[in-house]
Amino acid sequence: MKLRNIISAKDFNKDFLDDIFSKASKIKENPGKYCNCLINKIIALLFFEPSTRTYESFYRAAKNLGMDIIGFRKSYGTSLEKGESLYDTIKMYEGYGVDLIVLRHYSAGAAKYISEITEIPIINGGDNGREHPTQALLDAFTIYEKFGKLNDLKIGFMGDLKYGRTVPSLVYLLSNFNNEFYFIAPDLVQIRKEIEFYIEDKNIYYEKITDMNKVKDVVKELDVLYVTRIQKERIPDPMEYEKIKGSYRVDLNLISNVKEDFIILHPLPRVDEISPEVDKTKHAYYFEQAKNGLFVRMALIYYILKNG
Ligand code: CP
Repeated sequence: MKLRNIISAKDFNKDFLDDIFSKASKIKENPGKYCNCLINKIIALLFFEPSTRTYESFYRAAKNLGMDIIGFRKSYGTSLEKGESLYDTIKMYEGYGVDLIVLRHYSAGAAKYISEITEIPIINGGDNGREHPTQALLDAFTIYEKFGKLNDLKIGFMGDLKYGRTVPSLVYLLSNFNNEFYFIAPDLVQIRKEIEFYIEDKNIYYEKITDMNKVKDVVKELDVLYVTRIQKERIPDPMEYEKIKGSYRVDLNLISNVKEDFIILHPLPRVDEISPEVDKTKHAYYFEQAKNGLFVRMALIYYILKNG
């Protein structure tokens, strides 16, 4: 059955991924062919948290498809500042004839909540530390482009695996396939139990690596290393942040004995967890990954709106 709302990557199956990736590939090859095919449709970009990539790529994707774009980026200048509720805000956009809403919100579960109060299709553009399903789509699309498959890969996730939202969504998506996962992080920011339970239920092989001295030995076996920054803004205790700050970093030494086809991904923004010298290596795929966000998000909007 066709997905109406994009709330969680747990909802993605192989047919859906095939649809989105084949459309995204066609769009990437020939973006002009899809110009204006959603003319007269309206998208609302409602961003309650900062964003560069998600906001701009959805904006650009909608513009390329010929859509009208309304909404806001932070609540400054809106009646949310006067205390208007999320419910009332959504009802206003409903009244203005919006066809699709992309919501980024600081509350986990906000996208799910609004999907229950409106008939307008909802895309979750990131809800606190819970999920970022469209990021997972472009991450997986980038892996698929590189390897021509999404199975039989050794995938390392390194960084803040506890407070970040991109790793859970990508793990859920990739759990449709048979891969090995390596969670590389200090204990304080290791992968959340709920994600361990999810992959155990799918019989997926995984390891947790907490001794950061062993990272180089793990990395040399990987096909993909997915790096994330420490989500400083979500760590409740500044003392905890101080304990993990600077505890991992990808540099030329770390990747000196990796596989030929090894790639490094990062959802960005990066802070200091990937040394800039790595950007020049053939293993750095994070800017291509960010670029793919445009094509994948065009494909996703098209999927939701074009075929009814
Ligand atoms: N990767 C990502 O979600 O980036 P932004 O926060 O800039 O949208």
